[in-house]
Amino acid sequence: MDIISSLSDLRAARLSFEGTVGLVPTMGYLHEGHLSLVSRARAENEHVIVTIFVNPTQFGANEDLSKYPRDLDRDLSLLRPLGVDVVWTPSAEMMYPPGYQTWVEVEALTHPLEGSMRPGHFKGVTTIVAKLFNATQPHKAYFGQKDAQQVAVIRRMVVDLNFPLEVIVCPTQREADGLAMSSRNKYLNEAERKAATVLFRALRAAKELYEAGERDAEILRIKMKEVLEMEPLAKMQYVSCADYDSLEELDVLKGRALLSMAVFLGKTRLIDNFVLG
Ligand code: PAJ
Repeated sequence: MDIISSLSDLRAARLSFEGTVGLVPTMGYLHEGHLSLVSRARAENEHVIVTIFVNPTQFGANEDLSKYPRDLDRDLSLLRPLGVDVVWTPSAEMMYPPGYQTWVEVEALTHPLEGSMRPGHFKGVTTIVAKLFNATQPHKAYFGQKDAQQVAVIRRMVVDLNFPLEVIVCPTQREADGLAMSSRNKYLNEAERKAATVLFRALRAAKELYEAGERDAEILRIKMKEVLEMEPLAKMQYVSCADYDSLEELDVLKGRALLSMAVFLGKTRLIDNFVLG
């Protein structure tokens, strides 16, 4: 496994690869969710590149950039057994040199949900992901369903900018009690960690209604809110029942729908989602 920080060394390594290349972009502090993407990439490609870069431009002014957990040695020891060819760890100065002024922005899909709560977030995500695609030239790029809107936005960007690659979406990995794995779970204290299962419980309750035949989106949203309100440590930011492709809020469920939510447990903001249909 080569650990590379410079762009020229990355390009040289990429040029030496024959056959397909799978890319797994991450911000590090890896957990089983990230590793499931790496294993899938390993199984489907001759070469695997993992990037670790805490991208400053996708964090808002009041967000946790400086506190975002980092542990490169631990990340590398988790990646070594998985047969990764290259781990690329570019610096912020290299990705955003002085005078930087070029951005990639997807429009309508970035306006609702996470986009409405985190202005500028997706502009940072699409810009860095486009730069990672340019640098690594993958055949397939792996993303988690955990970040459902991110997947929708990146898919749109890939089509719109004619990136010659396939976006592969991998299922959300969860703890035994249903909590979606996230680097931010580390911020939770013991009581908040217990309460954090409320996201999964709320999604599950709405899904049960759906499976019993309910197709009124507002009833599913109300159900999720009710479950969240029963948990005193949880503070809902939004719940949504939206069209899977357009991310527009639904009145009536027809095709595929996305149930999603953002919830604060103390100062920690967690998101989760289920796909219906
Ligand atoms: P990060 O939060 O580190 O996540 C890296 C990838 O792991 C993303 O595709 C994310 O959806 C996936 N992932 C996270 N938790 C998961 C889980 N529980 N199950 C399955 N997959 C999971 O997402 C980012 O970084 C950044 O926005 C990035 C795309 C790297 C751009 O900076």
